[in-house]
Amino acid sequence: MDLQKKKVLITGGSVGIGKALVAELVRRGVRDLAVMGRRPEALAALAAEFPAAEFLLLPGDVGRVADLDRAVAAVTEAWGGLDILVNNAGVVSAGLLTEVSDEDVIGQITINLTGLILLTKKCLPLLQQSPEGAILNISSGYGYIAMPFYSVYAATKAAVGQFSDAMRRELAQYPLHVLTVYPSATDTDMMKTAVVRNMDSAQDVARAAVEGLLKGEINVILGGPDREAQIKLNFLEPRKIDEVAKANFEALRARTQTHRSM
Ligand SMILES: NC(=O)c1ccc[n+]([C@@H]2O[C@H](COP(=O)([O-])OP(=O)(O)OC[C@H]3O[C@@H](n4cnc5c(N)ncnc54)[C@H](OP(=O)(O)O)[C@@H]3O)[C@@H](O)[C@H]2O)c1
Repeated sequence: MDLQKKKVLITGGSVGIGKALVAELVRRGVRDLAVMGRRPEALAALAAEFPAAEFLLLPGDVGRVADLDRAVAAVTEAWGGLDILVNNAGVVSAGLLTEVSDEDVIGQITINLTGLILLTKKCLPLLQQSPEGAILNISSGYGYIAMPFYSVYAATKAAVGQFSDAMRRELAQYPLHVLTVYPSATDTDMMKTAVVRNMDSAQDVARAAVEGLLKGEINVILGGPDREAQIKLNFLEPRKIDEVAKANFEALRARTQTHRSM
């Protein structure tokens, strides 16, 4: 894929992995970026930081259908087309299922999954006209290996992976690639309320994601060969991962009991 002249819509591009993706795309020649997020001031700060790019700032919540419609209408009016959709916006609320509020259960599903699916659906008429398009969905390592205290988050992220695979197969007759990125723990605002050591940087994730896009990869899995081995083990012998989770249950509880970024 050639990134020059591509028109990109990214959700949650104002900070964290999304902002690093914006930086990586701009570095590789993208000029037209539409960025959706709830805080207008964070969007304005992003645009000020990358004067070489032309931004279409789309204040809005991916969990609200009216905001999605408004965003897609703005992209259609400004560009009349779209080449790359990056579904990156996401939230997390950790805890035993009985401890997570109903509001946070619904919020995680609405933002991480329903919003991602609806935005993809609403962008498809534009993407299907691109001569060389892509949909890049950000899942999580928990989308492959679910862990206690992250039941809802893991469910949304596993669903993102399945949605990506189904879409890639459904869109096979279009020049439209679909890939999923599975970051491990990454040093962003989302992780400020968790206790995790040895995190990747957002730049590491963005670089791997954009390289994966350029190479036409289907899954970009952060965390190296150890992570890939764990994923295989989880698939072939899930009880072994049950044992790991059991042995680390209390440590995991201590590290995640305040983890909430909604
Ligand atoms: N950090 C990690 O360790 C990690 C690991 C695996 C996967 N991930 C995934 O990577 C993605 C990015 O995470 P991050 O760590 O960069 O998070 P972050 O630092 O908290 O940034 C999240 C971004 O999403 C936007 N956002 C959140 N809710 C939104 C909503 N309802 N509508 C529109 N925009 C919204 C935020 O802007 P506003 O608040 O202004 O809306 C912000 O720009 C997420 O999907 C996350 O699940 C992260």
